[in-house]
Amino acid sequence: MRIAIGNDHAAVELKNIIVEHLEQRGCEVVNYGTDSTESFDYPIAGYKVARAVADGQADRGILICGTGVGISLAANKVDGIRACVCSEPFSAKLSRQHNNTNVLAFGARVVGSELAKMIVDEWLDAEFEGGRHERRVAMLTEIEQTQSLAAAQE
Ligand code: RB5
Repeated sequence: MRIAIGNDHAAVELKNIIVEHLEQRGCEVVNYGTDSTESFDYPIAGYKVARAVADGQADRGILICGTGVGISLAANKVDGIRACVCSEPFSAKLSRQHNNTNVLAFGARVVGSELAKMIVDEWLDAEFEGGRHERRVAMLTEIEQTQSLAAAQE
């Protein structure tokens, strides 16, 4: 699996730990984040990772900033991206099974490295369940593409 990873200055150390963990899992990792602790604007990394996933250059994306919030917001502005911020593995797993997330975000100032690895593992190992969740994910795409939702007009 090819993973695009991105981070800001708050998450360089955790990014490196996660890259090593991903490579140990056999993933190919492409780094779109900063490797410096100099101030770095998180939307740049969020956008680059989202673009790589949306364009099919990466299978999934992982984003890390201080909280995971800003960088996931940036990613979610790109069509086709479903990014979630997770601070625990349960939501990470369910975000794959129910929401078909293609980008995972977390905060280097929120989670420790062992918890972050657990979150990543649960997210990578889980598959989208389809079925009733297919319709709801399609609604997310409808909102994204039309800025409206037919089912909400009824
Ligand atoms: C940087 O100080 C911080 O704002 C950023 O890492 C992130 O937490 C934003 O959401």
